[in-house]
Amino acid sequence: QENVPASPPSGVGLEGLRAAAAGCRACELWEPATQTVFGEGPETARIVFVGEQPGDQEDRKGEPFVGPAGRLLDRALTEAGIERKDTYITNAVKHFRFTPTPKRRIHQSPGAEHLRACRPWLEAEFEVLKPEVVVCLGATAAKALISPSFRITKERGKLMPWTPPGVAQVTPDEEPEEDAPAQTWMLATAHPSAILRTPDEAREAAYGALVTDLRVVAGALA
Ligand code: URA
Repeated sequence: QENVPASPPSGVGLEGLRAAAAGCRACELWEPATQTVFGEGPETARIVFVGEQPGDQEDRKGEPFVGPAGRLLDRALTEAGIERKDTYITNAVKHFRFTPTPKRRIHQSPGAEHLRACRPWLEAEFEVLKPEVVVCLGATAAKALISPSFRITKERGKLMPWTPPGVAQVTPDEEPEEDAPAQTWMLATAHPSAILRTPDEAREAAYGALVTDLRVVAGALA
């Protein structure tokens, strides 16, 4: 079967996008995967988290960040005073990419072609959500949304003004859209999975740094 470029319908809201994305054939990842894992959260969310791609459990359940990385994220959000149910959580790539082995499916990072193929969905999500703060979880999202040269280690935890791709720009003689924030902010932080992979002696500090960054996000909305 040939790849068919993603073309998200407009004016259908998040549920309409989710339904359309379920049949996405924009790259080859759909075939071995169980299902499209679309973003999750209310249309009124002011914070949008962008991860890399669903993992094994997310692929099975059809929901983002519900495996080990998701549990760590949940804990860090609570500590930072952010309620997950008020946020929207999605991924740069919406199918699980893996290498099958007899025992388990081994996560494989998405390639540039998968990020490119999937991007229209992410832009459509931004268009509907008009977020105030976008948080990149890890280097894949940060490189895709900020710049290919972005270095998490150097530049994490800082709020930066950012214009979501796909959100119509306001020209000086136009009224801004009523529900759009005057400014969208971006912050990049470590990926929860990277924290899980951190050696024992450094893991607590890595987790603490994530909570610190999430407190900056919470502060931006206060
Ligand atoms: N890692 C991600 O980047 N996204 C998920 O949804 C789960 C794990």
